[in-house]
Amino acid sequence: MSRLSRGRRRSITAFACSTTDVVELTETAVTIADVRLSLLRPPDPEALIDEERFEVDEFLPYWAELWPSALALAKEVARRDVGRLRFVELGCGLGVPSLVAAARRAEVLATDWAEDAVELLRRNAERNGLTLEAALIDWRDPEPLLARAPFDLVLAADVLYERRYVDLLLELLPRLGRSVLLADPGRPFTDGFLERAGKEWSIERLGNTLYALERYDAVAVSGSGDASTATG
Ligand SMILES: C[S@@+](CC[C@H](N)C(=O)[O-])C[C@H]1O[C@@H](n2cnc3c(N)ncnc32)[C@H](O)[C@@H]1O
Repeated sequence: MSRLSRGRRRSITAFACSTTDVVELTETAVTIADVRLSLLRPPDPEALIDEERFEVDEFLPYWAELWPSALALAKEVARRDVGRLRFVELGCGLGVPSLVAAARRAEVLATDWAEDAVELLRRNAERNGLTLEAALIDWRDPEPLLARAPFDLVLAADVLYERRYVDLLLELLPRLGRSVLLADPGRPFTDGFLERAGKEWSIERLGNTLYALERYDAVAVSGSGDASTATG
Protein backbone atom coordinates (compact mmCIF):
# COMPACT_ATOMS: atom_id res chain seq x y z
CA MET A 1 0.00 0.00 0.00
CA SER A 2 1.36 3.42 -0.89
CA ARG A 3 1.87 6.11 1.72
CA LEU A 4 -0.93 8.14 0.14
CA SER A 5 -3.52 5.38 0.23
CA ARG A 6 -2.49 4.46 3.78
CA GLY A 7 -2.95 8.07 4.78
CA ARG A 8 -6.34 8.27 3.13
CA ARG A 9 -7.55 5.14 4.91
CA ARG A 10 -6.43 6.40 8.29
CA SER A 11 -8.26 9.66 7.82
CA ILE A 12 -11.56 7.79 7.63
CA THR A 13 -11.22 5.12 10.29
CA ALA A 14 -8.29 6.09 12.51
CA PHE A 15 -9.24 7.19 16.00
CA ALA A 16 -6.81 8.71 18.46
CA CYS A 17 -8.08 6.99 21.57
CA SER A 18 -7.16 8.60 24.88
CA THR A 19 -6.24 5.32 26.58
CA THR A 20 -4.31 3.54 23.82
CA ASP A 21 -2.57 4.18 20.56
CA VAL A 22 -4.51 5.04 17.45
CA VAL A 23 -7.29 2.54 16.83
CA GLU A 24 -8.61 1.59 13.42
CA LEU A 25 -12.37 1.78 13.73
CA THR A 26 -14.75 -0.67 12.18
CA GLU A 27 -18.00 0.31 10.47
CA THR A 28 -21.33 -1.16 11.48
CA ALA A 29 -24.61 -0.50 9.72
CA VAL A 30 -27.43 0.02 12.22
CA THR A 31 -31.04 0.32 11.10
CA ILE A 32 -33.64 1.52 13.57
CA ALA A 33 -37.08 1.76 11.98
CA ASP A 34 -36.47 3.94 8.92
CA VAL A 35 -33.25 5.45 10.29
CA ARG A 36 -30.10 4.01 8.75
CA LEU A 37 -26.86 4.76 10.50
CA SER A 38 -23.29 4.06 9.58
CA LEU A 39 -21.54 3.71 12.91
CA LEU A 40 -17.81 3.75 13.38
CA ARG A 41 -16.68 1.97 16.54
CA PRO A 42 -13.61 0.33 18.02
CA PRO A 43 -13.43 -3.32 16.94
CA ASP A 44 -12.21 -4.59 20.30
CA PRO A 45 -13.39 -2.58 23.33
CA GLU A 46 -11.33 -4.72 25.71
CA ALA A 47 -8.19 -3.55 23.97
CA LEU A 48 -9.00 -0.06 25.27
CA ILE A 49 -8.71 -1.05 28.92
CA ASP A 50 -6.24 1.18 30.70
CA GLU A 51 -5.10 -0.01 34.13
CA GLU A 52 -3.99 3.45 35.23
CA ARG A 53 -7.36 4.93 34.41
CA PHE A 54 -9.05 2.04 36.19
CA GLU A 55 -7.03 2.82 39.32
CA VAL A 56 -8.41 6.35 39.40
CA ASP A 57 -12.15 5.73 39.30
CA GLU A 58 -12.62 2.14 38.14
CA PHE A 59 -13.12 3.41 34.62
CA LEU A 60 -13.70 0.72 32.01
CA PRO A 61 -14.31 1.42 28.30
CA TYR A 62 -17.90 0.17 28.29
CA TRP A 63 -18.75 3.12 26.08
CA ALA A 64 -17.24 1.32 23.10
CA GLU A 65 -19.70 -1.60 23.03
CA LEU A 66 -22.93 -1.53 21.08
CA TRP A 67 -25.19 -2.74 23.90
CA PRO A 68 -28.65 -4.24 23.21
CA SER A 69 -30.21 -1.70 25.58
CA ALA A 70 -29.12 1.13 23.30
CA LEU A 71 -30.89 -0.51 20.38
CA ALA A 72 -34.06 -1.10 22.43
CA LEU A 73 -34.08 2.52 23.55
CA ALA A 74 -33.38 3.79 20.05
CA LYS A 75 -36.34 1.79 18.71
CA GLU A 76 -38.63 3.39 21.27
CA VAL A 77 -37.32 6.85 20.40
CA ALA A 78 -37.96 6.17 16.71
CA ARG A 79 -41.62 5.38 17.51
CA ARG A 80 -42.23 8.74 19.13
CA ASP A 81 -43.11 12.15 17.88
CA VAL A 82 -40.03 13.87 19.26
CA GLY A 83 -39.36 16.70 16.83
CA ARG A 84 -38.12 19.90 18.49
CA LEU A 85 -38.21 18.44 22.00
CA ARG A 86 -35.08 18.76 24.15
CA PHE A 87 -33.45 15.44 24.98
CA VAL A 88 -30.51 14.51 27.11
CA GLU A 89 -28.85 11.09 27.02
CA LEU A 90 -26.86 9.95 30.04
CA GLY A 91 -23.97 7.54 29.61
CA CYS A 92 -24.52 7.62 25.87
CA GLY A 93 -21.58 5.44 24.84
CA LEU A 94 -21.87 5.11 21.07
CA GLY A 95 -25.08 7.13 21.31
CA VAL A 96 -27.45 5.27 18.99
CA PRO A 97 -30.59 6.57 20.78
CA SER A 98 -29.25 10.11 20.50
CA LEU A 99 -28.49 9.68 16.81
CA VAL A 100 -32.01 8.39 16.20
CA ALA A 101 -33.50 11.27 18.20
CA ALA A 102 -31.42 13.69 16.12
CA ALA A 103 -32.66 11.99 12.95
CA ARG A 104 -36.19 12.63 14.25
CA ARG A 105 -35.23 16.30 14.68
CA ALA A 106 -35.13 16.42 18.45
CA GLU A 107 -32.65 18.81 20.05
CA VAL A 108 -30.17 16.40 21.59
CA LEU A 109 -27.48 16.67 24.24
CA ALA A 110 -25.62 13.36 24.51
CA THR A 111 -23.31 12.95 27.51
CA ASP A 112 -20.75 10.53 28.85
CA TRP A 113 -17.78 10.61 31.21
CA ALA A 114 -15.61 8.96 28.54
CA GLU A 115 -14.01 11.58 26.35
CA ASP A 116 -13.55 9.05 23.58
CA ALA A 117 -17.29 8.34 23.54
CA VAL A 118 -18.05 12.03 23.19
CA GLU A 119 -15.48 12.50 20.46
CA LEU A 120 -16.59 9.48 18.47
CA LEU A 121 -20.27 10.37 18.77
CA ARG A 122 -19.54 13.81 17.33
CA ARG A 123 -17.80 12.10 14.46
CA ASN A 124 -20.59 9.57 13.91
CA ALA A 125 -23.20 12.32 13.96
CA GLU A 126 -21.32 14.23 11.31
CA ARG A 127 -20.78 11.08 9.29
CA ASN A 128 -24.54 10.53 9.21
CA GLY A 129 -25.40 14.14 8.49
CA LEU A 130 -27.04 14.60 11.90
CA THR A 131 -26.93 17.50 14.31
CA LEU A 132 -26.51 16.89 18.01
CA GLU A 133 -24.43 18.17 20.87
CA ALA A 134 -22.11 15.77 22.69
CA ALA A 135 -20.56 16.74 26.01
CA LEU A 136 -18.23 15.27 28.58
CA ILE A 137 -20.28 15.08 31.78
CA ASP A 138 -19.82 12.88 34.82
CA TRP A 139 -22.89 12.09 36.95
CA ARG A 140 -20.77 12.83 40.02
CA ASP A 141 -20.27 16.39 38.83
CA PRO A 142 -23.52 17.22 37.04
CA GLU A 143 -23.53 21.02 37.31
CA PRO A 144 -23.08 21.58 33.55
CA LEU A 145 -26.05 19.32 32.98
CA LEU A 146 -28.21 20.91 35.65
CA ALA A 147 -27.50 24.29 34.11
CA ARG A 148 -29.24 23.04 30.94
CA ALA A 149 -32.19 21.36 32.67
CA PRO A 150 -35.08 20.76 32.48
CA PHE A 151 -35.15 18.49 29.46
CA ASP A 152 -38.33 17.16 27.87
CA LEU A 153 -37.00 13.62 27.95
CA VAL A 154 -34.04 11.93 29.62
CA LEU A 155 -32.65 8.86 27.86
CA ALA A 156 -30.52 6.26 29.60
CA ALA A 157 -29.51 2.81 28.36
CA ASP A 158 -27.72 0.27 30.55
CA VAL A 159 -26.51 2.70 33.17
CA LEU A 160 -27.30 0.68 36.31
CA TYR A 161 -24.55 -1.89 35.99
CA GLU A 162 -22.72 -0.85 39.15
CA ARG A 163 -24.04 -0.37 42.67
CA ARG A 164 -22.55 3.13 42.92
CA TYR A 165 -24.79 4.36 40.11
CA VAL A 166 -28.08 3.65 41.87
CA ASP A 167 -27.84 6.49 44.41
CA LEU A 168 -26.23 8.82 41.88
CA LEU A 169 -29.00 8.40 39.34
CA LEU A 170 -31.82 8.43 41.88
CA GLU A 171 -30.56 11.84 42.89
CA LEU A 172 -29.76 13.16 39.42
CA LEU A 173 -32.74 12.10 37.33
CA PRO A 174 -35.44 14.18 39.09
CA ARG A 175 -33.27 17.25 38.63
CA LEU A 176 -33.10 16.75 34.87
CA GLY A 177 -36.72 16.42 33.89
CA ARG A 178 -40.08 14.82 34.42
CA SER A 179 -39.89 12.01 31.87
CA VAL A 180 -37.25 9.33 31.55
CA LEU A 181 -36.90 6.42 29.17
CA LEU A 182 -34.68 3.79 30.70
CA ALA A 183 -33.47 0.64 28.95
CA ASP A 184 -31.92 -2.00 31.12
CA PRO A 185 -31.03 -5.62 30.41
CA GLY A 186 -31.80 -6.76 33.98
CA ARG A 187 -28.64 -5.79 35.83
CA PRO A 188 -28.46 -6.92 39.46
CA PHE A 189 -29.03 -3.41 40.84
CA THR A 190 -31.97 -2.51 38.63
CA ASP A 191 -34.76 -3.95 40.78
CA GLY A 192 -33.49 -2.02 43.79
CA PHE A 193 -33.28 1.13 41.71
CA LEU A 194 -36.83 0.73 40.40
CA GLU A 195 -38.22 0.02 43.85
CA ARG A 196 -36.72 3.20 45.25
CA ALA A 197 -37.53 5.24 42.13
CA GLY A 198 -41.17 4.18 42.50
CA LYS A 199 -41.53 6.57 45.44
CA GLU A 200 -41.01 9.56 43.16
CA TRP A 201 -41.87 8.27 39.71
CA SER A 202 -44.70 6.37 38.13
CA ILE A 203 -43.02 3.52 36.28
CA GLU A 204 -44.47 1.84 33.24
CA ARG A 205 -42.84 -1.23 31.84
CA LEU A 206 -42.85 -0.93 28.04
CA GLY A 207 -41.24 -4.25 27.25
CA ASN A 208 -38.75 -6.72 28.65
CA THR A 209 -35.99 -4.18 28.93
CA LEU A 210 -37.65 -0.79 28.73
CA TYR A 211 -39.21 1.48 31.34
CA ALA A 212 -40.96 4.85 31.07
CA LEU A 213 -40.67 6.92 34.24
CA GLU A 214 -42.89 9.94 34.85
CA ARG A 215 -42.39 12.05 37.92
CA TYR A 216 -45.58 12.00 39.99
CA ASP A 217 -45.90 15.78 39.96
CA ALA A 218 -45.70 15.68 36.13
CA VAL A 219 -48.42 13.04 35.90
CA ALA A 220 -50.67 15.11 38.14
CA VAL A 221 -50.03 18.38 36.31
CA SER A 222 -49.91 17.49 32.63
CA GLY A 223 -50.42 13.82 31.86
CA SER A 224 -49.73 14.20 28.12
CA GLY A 225 -48.77 16.43 25.26
CA ASP A 226 -45.07 15.76 25.57
CA ALA A 227 -42.46 13.21 24.61
CA SER A 228 -43.99 10.65 26.92
CA THR A 229 -46.77 10.17 24.39
CA ALA A 230 -46.05 7.43 21.91
CA THR A 231 -47.38 7.93 18.43
CA GLY A 232 -47.70 4.36 17.34
C1 LIG B 1 -22.90 -0.17 29.77
S1 LIG B 1 -22.43 1.32 29.01
C2 LIG B 1 -23.87 1.74 28.07
C3 LIG B 1 -23.54 2.65 26.93
C4 LIG B 1 -24.74 3.03 26.05
N1 LIG B 1 -25.74 3.75 26.81
C5 LIG B 1 -25.34 1.78 25.44
O1 LIG B 1 -26.37 1.28 25.95
O2 LIG B 1 -24.77 1.28 24.46
C6 LIG B 1 -22.50 2.53 30.33
C7 LIG B 1 -22.16 3.94 29.89
O3 LIG B 1 -22.23 4.81 31.02
C8 LIG B 1 -21.09 5.65 31.03
N2 LIG B 1 -20.81 6.06 32.41
C9 LIG B 1 -20.40 5.28 33.44
N3 LIG B 1 -20.23 6.00 34.53
C10 LIG B 1 -20.52 7.28 34.21
C11 LIG B 1 -20.52 8.51 34.94
N4 LIG B 1 -20.14 8.56 36.23
N5 LIG B 1 -20.88 9.64 34.32
C12 LIG B 1 -21.27 9.61 33.02
N6 LIG B 1 -21.28 8.48 32.26
C13 LIG B 1 -20.91 7.32 32.86
C14 LIG B 1 -19.99 4.77 30.43
O4 LIG B 1 -18.88 5.49 29.94
C15 LIG B 1 -20.76 4.04 29.34
O5 LIG B 1 -20.78 4.76 28.13
